[in-house]
Amino acid sequence: MVKVNLGGCISFVKDADYKANVEKALAALEVLENETGKGNDFLGWKHLPSQTLASGLVAECEAVRDAWKSKNIDLVVVIGIGGSYLGAKCALEALSHQFAKQLKNKGEAPEIVFAGQNLSEEYMCELMDLVQERNAACVVISKSGTTTEPAVAFRLIKKYLEDTYGKAEAAERIVAVTDKARGALKGLATQEGYKTFVIEDNVGGRFSVLTPVGILPIVLAGFDMNAMLKGALEMEELCAKPCGECNPAIQYAAMRNALYAQGKKIEILVAYNPKLTFLGEWWKQLYGESEGKDGLGIFPASVNFTTDLHSMGQYIQDGERTLMETVVSVQKSNRSMLIENDPQNLDGLNFLSGKHVEECNAMAELGTKLAHIDGGVPQISLSIECINEYNLGALFYFFEKACGISGYMLGVNPFDQPGVEAYKKNMFALLGKPGYEAQAEALRARL
Ligand code: PA5
Repeated sequence: MVKVNLGGCISFVKDADYKANVEKALAALEVLENETGKGNDFLGWKHLPSQTLASGLVAECEAVRDAWKSKNIDLVVVIGIGGSYLGAKCALEALSHQFAKQLKNKGEAPEIVFAGQNLSEEYMCELMDLVQERNAACVVISKSGTTTEPAVAFRLIKKYLEDTYGKAEAAERIVAVTDKARGALKGLATQEGYKTFVIEDNVGGRFSVLTPVGILPIVLAGFDMNAMLKGALEMEELCAKPCGECNPAIQYAAMRNALYAQGKKIEILVAYNPKLTFLGEWWKQLYGESEGKDGLGIFPASVNFTTDLHSMGQYIQDGERTLMETVVSVQKSNRSMLIENDPQNLDGLNFLSGKHVEECNAMAELGTKLAHIDGGVPQISLSIECINEYNLGALFYFFEKACGISGYMLGVNPFDQPGVEAYKKNMFALLGKPGYEAQAEALRARL
């Protein structure tokens, strides 16, 4: 369950302005529900929680997990970029033990590592150093099946697996997640006989965490995907309600747009737990790619406190006053550690004796909220009870729904990403891809 608290905005936004934005958000919700807006052929994500819970998809992913377990696979390379990477990465970072790699007892699940999310040669070489030491398998994810970064990584991993295990065994260690018919990856997967999961046409990359794109890596890592879908389902139901008082997606979308209209052009997603760092990365893609177009859109940034209070804190407190904060507030720690009394008190910390570490974190959060509001930074608070599969699923769905509503309030198509093509065309031209000769010549003339 995600609860929205707008108390940190009341000194910044007049009640009438907020209410006017709630009306706009409700109108946007109606467009989204009736599927009459821009990009309405990309709304397949809206009912993914209910549809997926009723399907056999999680069980199908569990079958892959069990088959690989019977081969003692201890490393899975998940290849993908953008929406084909960030959701799974976010979930795994949030749910995994932060020192899993260093622990002696590593548990039963294979280690998941990611590739194809950059074009660094050093990254690939170092990844291969690891793969060579381990019993490896690979999940390659690309909706279009033509994205360069994952395609390059997959070519290298595929060759390694085939050279090491033979072609037939390699084919059992590779699963593809891609379009049902189009793209080079689909053709390759069919030709090589890979197990394949489909990303439906009507779900865009950044809205795909609750498709096999996110589900397969999360299941392989040993987490409870059904619980995540149930959390998302609670939000699917709540965030469909045409209700300004009870629909959290309406409240969040309305307030961030009210603040944007007042010049708060940068929204910083704040977490007070390092496990949520990649929630910020996933959220930045979702909102940046959905809203940043036609010369419009709130710029999404993210920080992790208290860590970044010692780096970005100064700017947020005193820099240009174009910022708003959205804090993902976790009510309860999953683990417990008390700060004990020290009779010598050489560090002067006995005022904390008997308190939990998380109480210090909570007071840092409260103190920062008050300081930032005093400094002119409004704060939207989104709270979840604790970090687990259920609440993560709720957050994923909540942010997706609020993003669709916000994009329509802004007047853009939240479901396309025309701007992403510009760098690709230049890169292809500079790399000599056939068909880009004229563009290559024009670019070289500029260098
Ligand atoms: O949200 C999006 O559509 C993009 O970020 C894509 O997910 C990303 O570019 C990867 O695309 P693909 O899955 O086609 O390789």
